[in-house]
Amino acid sequence: MSPRPWFSPVLEHIGGVPIRELARQFGTPLYVYDAETILRRREQLRRFPVVRYAQKACSNLAVLALLRRQGVVLDAVSAGEIVRALRAGYPAQGDPPPVVYTADIFDRPALELVARHGIHVNCGSPDMMDQLAQAAGGQEITLRINPGFGHGHSQKTNTGGEQSKHGIWHEQLPECLRRAERLGHRVVGLHVHIGSGTDLEHLAQVCQAMEQLAEQAGPHLRWISAGGGLPVPYRPEDPELDLQRYHQLWEQTCRRIEQRLGHPVRLEIEPGRFLVAESGYLITEIRAVKQQGSRRYWLVDAGFNDLARPVMYGAYHPMSVCRRDGSQEAEPAEEVAVGGPLCESGDIFTQEEGGFVVSRRLPRAGVGDLLVIGVAGAYGAVMGSNYNSKPLAPEVLVLEGTPHLVRRRQGWEELFAGEQVPEVLAAE
Ligand code: LLP
Repeated sequence: MSPRPWFSPVLEHIGGVPIRELARQFGTPLYVYDAETILRRREQLRRFPVVRYAQKACSNLAVLALLRRQGVVLDAVSAGEIVRALRAGYPAQGDPPPVVYTADIFDRPALELVARHGIHVNCGSPDMMDQLAQAAGGQEITLRINPGFGHGHSQKTNTGGEQSKHGIWHEQLPECLRRAERLGHRVVGLHVHIGSGTDLEHLAQVCQAMEQLAEQAGPHLRWISAGGGLPVPYRPEDPELDLQRYHQLWEQTCRRIEQRLGHPVRLEIEPGRFLVAESGYLITEIRAVKQQGSRRYWLVDAGFNDLARPVMYGAYHPMSVCRRDGSQEAEPAEEVAVGGPLCESGDIFTQEEGGFVVSRRLPRAGVGDLLVIGVAGAYGAVMGSNYNSKPLAPEVLVLEGTPHLVRRRQGWEELFAGEQVPEVLAAE
């Protein structure tokens, strides 16, 4: 089988399981993750001593459990993600910390959980240091620094520089170190994440910044985190990240910091997308084919309530066809725009940033055939919503050729669970 099946124009299997069988058994729209692809990406990161998965990319408990067995630790950005981490079997404490809370604020539930379980905190604002001291006393902490520059696949995923709310401004590090000392905290980690979906050139700039920061942070520093942002190819022509070079740059940075400080310093990375993006497919069924003037549309049963990346960022996802009749010719191709069922013009999977609808060359298909949207494992299901009262799609994890339902389709009752009609408005 092709090592990158998500780029095939016609696709029949995911992880060895027939796609039509998956659609029949679990219905559409449906997320399917191929565990083998996750494991392959995990293996490529073995040379990094600590791999901390940014679970926001895909936080299904089964995916967390899979990665836990691979020695991957976790990042959590909310109280809910802390609860997930614990539910997936991660202990609250250890070395390296099995779970780190990385955020720019504590909401009250997060502060309560962190204090109760002794979860390590990566502080993205000085106020967090005060609130942590108040709730839990002096702690070992990490500081997330905004180095003054950033880069991402979209302005919305750039997390450095003045346009970003993230991290402690680099010039404030000395002041924050004094603050930490006053509060009884010990700064044992430094973390920089400049953005998501960036490239090697920008990632490399962080090394230099980290070196300067580490020198200031000084004697108690035990680890540095290079953050996440490792890109994956969304188009066949996109380059693969030169992992060896990336590792080498950070490894050398870490060694130089060790020499400067005179004690061991551990390197962490914090990828989300890299581990899970390519494993995930969104299986949809084509429900209507329309000609709007010169543009042909395929309307499928998934919308931006299921996959928001195209409408939010103009993100490109590869698409494959899986026909009812099993025919596999890729030609002749059609030029089509692909949209969903939502009552909103932006509900288009083939759009560019700014909302411009574009057409895509896809193999012939019609109503009843399946359209499989690839590289959807990261920031797919997790960004799903109930807009237009659409239930959240189910998720299936394929493990060694067997599909496991790891989240069932949301039911009607779950859709309005928690809503109440005041008695005075109740139907007579
Ligand atoms: N660490 C921190 C502190 C982050 O904020 C993020 C992503 C990551 C790690 C993981 O980044 P990754 O390795 O996955 O690029 N919804 C957007 C991405 C938002 C990323 C937010 N933070 C998308 O669909 O592209």
